[in-house]
Amino acid sequence: MRNIVAEKLNKYKTICVPFELLVEADELFYTLASSSQNLVNSFFSLIILHYGPPMLFYISLNFRMIHGLRIKDGKATYVSRFVKTSRLKQEEYFGGAKFMKIGDLKGLFGLLMVNMQMLRAKLKVLDLSFGNGTDAIKVFEDGDLQTLGLLDYDKRLGHSFTAHPKVDPFTGEMFTFGYSHTPPYITYRVISKDGFMHDPVPITIAEPIMMHDFAITENYVIFMDLPLYFRPKEMVKNKTLIFTFDSTKKARFGVLPRYAKDEKHIRWFELPNCFIFHNANAWEEEDEVVLITCRLKNPDLDMVSGTVKEKLENFSNELYEMRFNMKSGEASQKKLSASAVDFPRVNESYTGRKSFVHVIDAKTMSADPVAVVELPHRVPYGFHAFFVTEDQLQEQA
Ligand SMILES: [Fe+2]
Repeated sequence: MRNIVAEKLNKYKTICVPFELLVEADELFYTLASSSQNLVNSFFSLIILHYGPPMLFYISLNFRMIHGLRIKDGKATYVSRFVKTSRLKQEEYFGGAKFMKIGDLKGLFGLLMVNMQMLRAKLKVLDLSFGNGTDAIKVFEDGDLQTLGLLDYDKRLGHSFTAHPKVDPFTGEMFTFGYSHTPPYITYRVISKDGFMHDPVPITIAEPIMMHDFAITENYVIFMDLPLYFRPKEMVKNKTLIFTFDSTKKARFGVLPRYAKDEKHIRWFELPNCFIFHNANAWEEEDEVVLITCRLKNPDLDMVSGTVKEKLENFSNELYEMRFNMKSGEASQKKLSASAVDFPRVNESYTGRKSFVHVIDAKTMSADPVAVVELPHRVPYGFHAFFVTEDQLQEQA
């Protein structure tokens, strides 16, 4: 199965590189011969969706693609489709790329690009708003994917929508935010289980920044005010990218009660300078809010704008545990992993909650665990384990 996919991907020159970036891809719909029948049968239904390119590249590429792998009834389907965004439709009309890319936004040339884009918008040649909403995708029974259109929550969504909204597995609510280069720089939203988007909650920070992800717990939402600033003037003056990382500034984390109607009760915590693209999970432990996250020291934005190769060597992206004490106001952090790590995924049944060790009966493989054990701390990745029976224990010399 893997070979067929690889062959197909090669043929279409799809290159998966870090940061969820996919280039030179084409649309595909491919039913895979299930040579691994048993493997396929063991999954009664599975779909994996990959939606790119998010992160910096929201404004950098001229298309977005969504990929799905569906395994059901002994048949696997791989599909890759363009998301029919407003941007794609406009560029299809013009027959070529018209929107600026973030890699273009550097130095004086970057300023020219911005001005040209603004002029095109003013002359109504381009619609830069792309509509206000988030693209809704439907997954068909055969595994195909189709863009339904923009979902604007009855026109209540008037700002950008993070690529990493969180769904509370217990309440079914969705939590999201948008960031902007004009005030309010951050806007927080809660969407009820029935799809109603509640009023915006502006979050005050000093300057426009890039905020890629956030986190929720049972009672709180955590925002990350990290010093990756949107600074067009520095772009021209210092020939830098439009986002500038300031290594002299502290990292700030704002913890807000998650149903707050305004930011009155937000608590801000400071930790040493860093940047974070993706969080793994967060939860509460007594007075503390715990965040597990992928922490970057000195991110180099050139790296994510194209000159990847040699800069990867200096790239330090480590799994961290951060703790925010809601009583004392103190924050602390510790490193959990030395190796580079990012794009973490957790079992989404535990979003915002601490997870436990589930002991499963191997004879029945029943989903109901025989026992659930809460570990007092995290066990490192790659830790090897084996089972010892009570008899074996008793036989110890
Ligand atoms: Fe992301």
